[in-house]
Amino acid sequence: MEDLQALLDDIHTTLSARDDKGKVATYIPELARIDPAHFGIAVIGVDGTEYMAGDAELPFSIQSVSKVFTLTLALGKHGDSLWNRVGREPSGTAFNSIVQLEFEKGRPRNPFINAGAIAVTDLILSGHKPREAIGEIVNFVRFLSGDDTITTDQAVAKSENATGFRNFALAQFMRSFDRLDHPAEHTLGVYFHQCALAMSCRQLAHAGLYLAANGRNPVSGSSVVSRERARRINALMMMCGHYDGSGEFAYRVGLPGKSGVGGGILAVAPGKASIAVWAPGLNDYGNSLLGTAALEILAKRTGWSVF
Ligand code: DON
Repeated sequence: MEDLQALLDDIHTTLSARDDKGKVATYIPELARIDPAHFGIAVIGVDGTEYMAGDAELPFSIQSVSKVFTLTLALGKHGDSLWNRVGREPSGTAFNSIVQLEFEKGRPRNPFINAGAIAVTDLILSGHKPREAIGEIVNFVRFLSGDDTITTDQAVAKSENATGFRNFALAQFMRSFDRLDHPAEHTLGVYFHQCALAMSCRQLAHAGLYLAANGRNPVSGSSVVSRERARRINALMMMCGHYDGSGEFAYRVGLPGKSGVGGGILAVAPGKASIAVWAPGLNDYGNSLLGTAALEILAKRTGWSVF
């Protein structure tokens, strides 16, 4: 395999020169202000070695990438009973779609579409006030990444709270089927804050390292989840992590991945490395255009694949 640092530098140079960078998300006003020219990538090997290029240390809004961490946290608290609330099937619909919810009586298809993630967050809220649940999520992500400076971007959370009409619709609809235990404003207050977590590629790749290393963070030495659970979370990322673009991502990249509308993607090469990439311009599915391209090149040149 070629030198990984040289490869990341090459990916950065090649992709930064591309004219078509996709379109930044505008439905969350605060995200519309981000410069689409940003590009960062970080790879952390399972031995803890770091490789980075571009804006790898600049925090961005991780948005739906947070759903991997809240799923991990909620599984730790509720175990497999979580699956009574949410399924494990790819949706084939957009991340914020409502159509399947009625057929499936308020049980979202998977924990990564918005409805499913809201159902997972509702479980984390059990026994807590929203403020405490937000604190628990922030602390968990700090623990995962070994970095106590990680925080939520209040302007982004506020921006989404003011404009997240679809998410309110999804939450109220699930409540009508008795699938949420808390008022929509409380659950979504927590959900918008988890989405507003601001992290750099470096922090994000560290936070995902447990998924590349059988459930244990090899840098901190902490056990996060069992080997079996790490495999299962990776399987969900592979099948559902890019919404209705999951098949295309699996075809092109061949690694479990989770995207966010902030333009971040966390990808996992089991036994090899955790990878985070950030390029704010999105493709038609709402996944990072250049982030996907970067991971495609990385997977091809390293030979990393789960297949
Ligand atoms: O709920 C939303 O719409 C956003 N906070 C998160 C959506 C998202 O990141 C979809 N990912 N590509």
